[in-house]
Amino acid sequence: MMRRKLVAGNWKMNGSLAALAELDAINDAADGGVDVAIAVPATLIHPAAARARFPIGAEDVHGADSGAHTGCVSAPMVKEAGASFSIVGHSERRQGQHESDADVKAKAEALHRHGLTAILCVGETLEQREAGKAEAVVTAQLRASLPDGASGDWLSIAYEPIWAIGTGKVATVADVEAMHAAIRAALAEALGVDQADSIRLLYGGSVTAENAAGLLHAANVDGALVGGASLTAAKFVPIIKAAG
Ligand code: G3P
Repeated sequence: MMRRKLVAGNWKMNGSLAALAELDAINDAADGGVDVAIAVPATLIHPAAARARFPIGAEDVHGADSGAHTGCVSAPMVKEAGASFSIVGHSERRQGQHESDADVKAKAEALHRHGLTAILCVGETLEQREAGKAEAVVTAQLRASLPDGASGDWLSIAYEPIWAIGTGKVATVADVEAMHAAIRAALAEALGVDQADSIRLLYGGSVTAENAAGLLHAANVDGALVGGASLTAAKFVPIIKAAG
């Protein structure tokens, strides 16, 4: 199956109204044959969506639509603000906010209920990789957080080894290919081959203009989820071009 490449940014807790000027140059690069998207802090969704000609998303949503959840935002709220997707299950939330696989599943299902798409993150720690458990950990995480009705129409999976995030240590192309093959196989087991083949698998973790081409054209790699290098057009646009 032909899957279009997706280069998605994740601004994390960075950015400002002034920083949205970066979107102007990204708009031009986003008109090519590659899908481009950026997840921004909740406060920036509305102005970013007004300025970008590509999808703007949230970095997280709650699994419920409304209620007594101080400090959280829901899928319908980010949708009203202009988001068309959200990241869920980022390791910084799984670890920092103690989110479980069941939480992540509920968040992805909430997005689908409201017609938004989801980028669901999975990844292992350095300790788990060194113990030879990376594939077992990641596929178990995936199986437990996979939303009901998962399909490539609305779901992408991002493999983000935790030790590669923001560290400058990028996984080797061979390691990424092996993990993505394991993820694809786990998806096929859960959903059948056709559905599994429709789902884009992104790699995230210290992706830069320098290493993007090798990663983005590896087997079973359908795009990238980019943190630090998505904050400026100067660093992000070359990654989009490398995907083309
Ligand atoms: O979600 C993107 C991410 O965690 C990777 O961050 O800064 O290593 O590209 P970075």
